[in-house]
Amino acid sequence: MARYATIAGTGHYVPERVLTNAELEQQLGLAIGDWLVANVGIEQRHVMAAEQTTSDLAVAAARPALRRAGIGAGDLDLIIVATDTPDYLSPATASVVQAKLGAERAGTYDLNCACASWVAGIDAACKYIAADPDYNNILVVGAYAMTRFIDWTDKYTCTLFADGAGAAVLRASSEPGFLAARLQACGDYHDALGIYTGGTFRPATAASIDQFGPPHVQFVRKFPASFNTERWPALVRDVVAKAGLALDDVALFLFTQLNRRTIADTLTALGQPLSKTHCIMHKWGYTGAACIPMALDDAVAAGKLKRGDQLVLCASGGGIAMAAAVFRWTL
Ligand SMILES: CC(C)(COP(=O)(O)OP(=O)(O)OC[C@H]1O[C@@H](n2cnc3c(N)ncnc32)[C@H](O)[C@@H]1OP(=O)(O)O)[C@@H](O)C(=O)NCCC(=O)NCCS
Repeated sequence: MARYATIAGTGHYVPERVLTNAELEQQLGLAIGDWLVANVGIEQRHVMAAEQTTSDLAVAAARPALRRAGIGAGDLDLIIVATDTPDYLSPATASVVQAKLGAERAGTYDLNCACASWVAGIDAACKYIAADPDYNNILVVGAYAMTRFIDWTDKYTCTLFADGAGAAVLRASSEPGFLAARLQACGDYHDALGIYTGGTFRPATAASIDQFGPPHVQFVRKFPASFNTERWPALVRDVVAKAGLALDDVALFLFTQLNRRTIADTLTALGQPLSKTHCIMHKWGYTGAACIPMALDDAVAAGKLKRGDQLVLCASGGGIAMAAAVFRWTL
């Protein structure tokens, strides 16, 4: 019998503390609120507490996903944590999540292609399930703790990035859920947006911190605003065709939640109505690797998916890395 992967349950977590545009304006002494609302759609964001770590966010999103999938942590065969803001440079945050959940049977690893990590992670998980009968339940958690790496005086970053986590349990089934995926990258932009201190390129020595500041996320050079509008329509068409579907067969398209206008332009280019997407950046800010599973869980709660619907996930992240996937909703 053929083995397929299905999404068996989703969950999300946002930290308690809300930081509004008005508070940021006061902090920065700059009027950024109107630009943020008009250009990217961000009205507020959530910020993790001083004592929280990325693995805490991941665990808080994983618990509801496990509950909705009707399994315990002990049923997990593999945990993939999709993040570029790990607890440690090494070892993997997925090991910390395994310990905190008590998922003794699960293998673990982190996957990092910046904000495209979670979609790349579910692609990997679905292929484990299809290829190897040892894998029946896989947890893929996108966890984002970027406010730990924010320069609060830099208006280009502190206004966008936020904290949160989203999770899904992928389960083996005789019924197709996962239909297709495609990964792409444009590595020439690896030095454009990221955290450039703390790795081998620029170790976090006293001298480098003195010169460049502590590890922080920054736009080193312009990450073209048009990049996603140019690339997403082709990537979506490609992955939908790979799944053997037409665009009109898709009920919901979820995109990286940085820029609402980019999402609207992409749907226009695809000839699809705005009602076929779901956005969360207005209330949760930009949560990178976590934003697509957070948007998915929020869309599920809003009743935007019914059994048999087709779902497209399309992500872009620093690198520039891109990942897209198509699912049939089986819940
Ligand atoms: C990041 C992004 C929203 C910035 O928008 P943009 O239109 O390119 O803005 P620019 O950098 O050209 O800045 C133009 C003006 O907009 C305003 N502005 C830009 N970014 C701002 C911000 N974060 N907050 C407030 N105002 C901002 C400023 O007035 C700026 O002018 P100034 O530099 O003279 O002060 C946009 O480039 C984008 O969506 N990029 C895609 C990034 C992406 O998808 N990344 C993948 C996930 S990480």
